[in-house]
Amino acid sequence: MTSAPSPAPFALSARGITRRFGGLVALNDVTLEIPKRQVVSLVGPSGCGKSTFLRALTMLDPADEGVITIDGQPFGNAPGPGSRTTRQSPREFERMRAKIGLVFQQFNLWPHMTVEKNITTAQRIVLGRSAAEARARAHELLQRLHIAQLADRYPSQISGGQKQRVAIARAMSMDPTLMLFDEPTSALDPEMIGEVLQLLRDIAAEGTTMLVVTHEIAFARNVADRMVFMDRGEIVADGDPRQIITSHDNPRIRQFFNKISHAHA
Ligand SMILES: Nc1ncnc2c1ncn2[C@@H]1O[C@H](COP(=O)(O)OP(=O)(O)O)[C@@H](O)[C@H]1O
Ligand SMILES: [Mg+2]
Repeated sequence: MTSAPSPAPFALSARGITRRFGGLVALNDVTLEIPKRQVVSLVGPSGCGKSTFLRALTMLDPADEGVITIDGQPFGNAPGPGSRTTRQSPREFERMRAKIGLVFQQFNLWPHMTVEKNITTAQRIVLGRSAAEARARAHELLQRLHIAQLADRYPSQISGGQKQRVAIARAMSMDPTLMLFDEPTSALDPEMIGEVLQLLRDIAAEGTTMLVVTHEIAFARNVADRMVFMDRGEIVADGDPRQIITSHDNPRIRQFFNKISHAHA
């Protein structure tokens, strides 16, 4: 008997993610699955749980409940039947974590390392690449992101927009299965926002699987394939960005986009 070929696994599958802070349920049973090459925007009011969700996905701040797989492989301790749980070795855990690239609002570069060192260190430690391999990959990305001239500078010597390019290059250098961005343009001066958004468009056009938390509605409308709207720790809409932005029947979603369009008018 031959079985049908199994469908390609999701780049990310996160099922039943719940995160509590004392009495506050910051994430309530959130399920999100992202096929490869899809670009998803994650939007919603401040405090609704977007950053908590990204931190849970990378296990920087693990969820209380839920199951995550990357490329069909379990990430973290998988609950088994009854009380049996499969424990992942620290090495395997770090290998899985490296499949997710995370770019923060505040860049989070290592201040005591040059730009080049910021991009090569994790490649060497986590992926075991040689110094030469890591350097070659770093320089290829620095060229592509038009910041090759910054390789020997320290983070304090470059602008916010340049720092964010370096942070993106650092995430890409790990060849992640998917990239997460948490408000990547919110800390930038207005004249730098456009150039970083253009870079995100380029990365998206290359077929990178991306989940982007953003208030840039033009980006969410024109670049993302799909919008996920979160409110009070739950996903309340998931689908076509234009439909959600212009004509969703949930009054809280309508109110959110009305406010944003007035703020930008
Ligand atoms: N470490 C924490 N301790 C306690 N409460 C937290 C913590 N992190 C986030 N929260 C709370 O969880 C909720 C979701 O926060 P967050 O994920 O940062 O929202 P968003 O990124 O959508 O603005 C908020 O009410 C926030 O105050
Ligand atoms: Mg946030």
